[in-house]
Amino acid sequence: MTEPLLQVDDLVVHYPAGRKRVVHAVDGVSLTVAPGEFVALVGESGCGKTTTAQAIMRMAKVTAGTITYRGRDITTFSQREMRPIRHEMQLIFQDPYESLDPRFRVRDTVIEPLQIHGVTDNREERVRAALERAGLTPAELYIDRYPHELSGGQRQRVSIAASLVLEPTLLLADEPVSMLDVSVRAGILGLLDELRKSGLGILMITHDLSTAAHYADRICVMYLGRVVEEGPAHEVIRNPQHPYTKALVSVVPQSDPDRATKPQILQGETPNPINIPSGCRFHPRCPVAEARCQSEDPQLRPVGGAGQQAACLLI
Ligand SMILES: Nc1ncnc2c1ncn2[C@@H]1O[C@H](COP(=O)(O)OP(=O)(O)O)[C@@H](O)[C@H]1O
Ligand code: SF4
Ligand SMILES: [Mg+2]
Repeated sequence: MTEPLLQVDDLVVHYPAGRKRVVHAVDGVSLTVAPGEFVALVGESGCGKTTTAQAIMRMAKVTAGTITYRGRDITTFSQREMRPIRHEMQLIFQDPYESLDPRFRVRDTVIEPLQIHGVTDNREERVRAALERAGLTPAELYIDRYPHELSGGQRQRVSIAASLVLEPTLLLADEPVSMLDVSVRAGILGLLDELRKSGLGILMITHDLSTAAHYADRICVMYLGRVVEEGPAHEVIRNPQHPYTKALVSVVPQSDPDRATKPQILQGETPNPINIPSGCRFHPRCPVAEARCQSEDPQLRPVGGAGQQAACLLI
């Protein structure tokens, strides 16, 4: 296998919550992204996906664990040392309405990263190339527009162009289509897929397992600050091992009626990351929990022969 671009080992991000309480936003996440690989980090709201991306970008303080980018441990890099890394690693935000300044023309938005990183040569050409790579073709048509003159999908493409203008090697896309009209989602996801084919590594965060199933090479399923299952996308979807993944898969619409299973609705809310349940953190909601699940904390381990891993005491 190619050397990963990004390797995250046992990442922990805790936030103080007053009166000696702690929010366990990320509580031991491990994952890798190789060049040209599309990895989806999937889980319900509040499970720590955004915090994971922020920690990778070193925008959230890392409590423990390591982040390795192209073989270099960047976990304790200073903001100054992070500058060249941020050149190569770009975050695509969820909301193109918020991430674009309404007073900026498209050109100004896309040129800004070049200014911040002190790239002075061929700025106009770089901006045009980034717009076209993001599917805004011909660039001429869009470059002088203001955000209010663009559709939601076009705005997200401008925001992606601003991420591409520094020619990064890794994109972290945090729910890149969840604020967009359903009609333009496939176009944006298809664009990410093309970027992956051109060699970029992509870590896409989503709460939607169907989207992950459709686009990702690999899926990491997150529950309450941990990756509980991980593996090739088709294996995770066809043959889920962890009871949480099984529940998520059971509500994904199946194109093949023979494969359709009874939707399994999980009981209870996602527990509060201030009070992580003892033992297996999924036990209060797990339909097959046993007594020992309240005291033993399962770790990710290989299951099956296809590179899948799961954290459950019963497998
Ligand atoms: N800066 C912060 N301070 C305190 N708690 C936070 C902070 N950021 C996120 N959290 C909490 O950490 C948990 C994980 O949040 P987040 O990473 O945003 O989840 P997701 O992106 O999966 O919805 C949530 O309970 C959230 O309220
Ligand atoms: S360890 Fe127990 S509670 Fe946790 S997922 Fe497996 S069966 Fe369910
Ligand atoms: Mg989030």
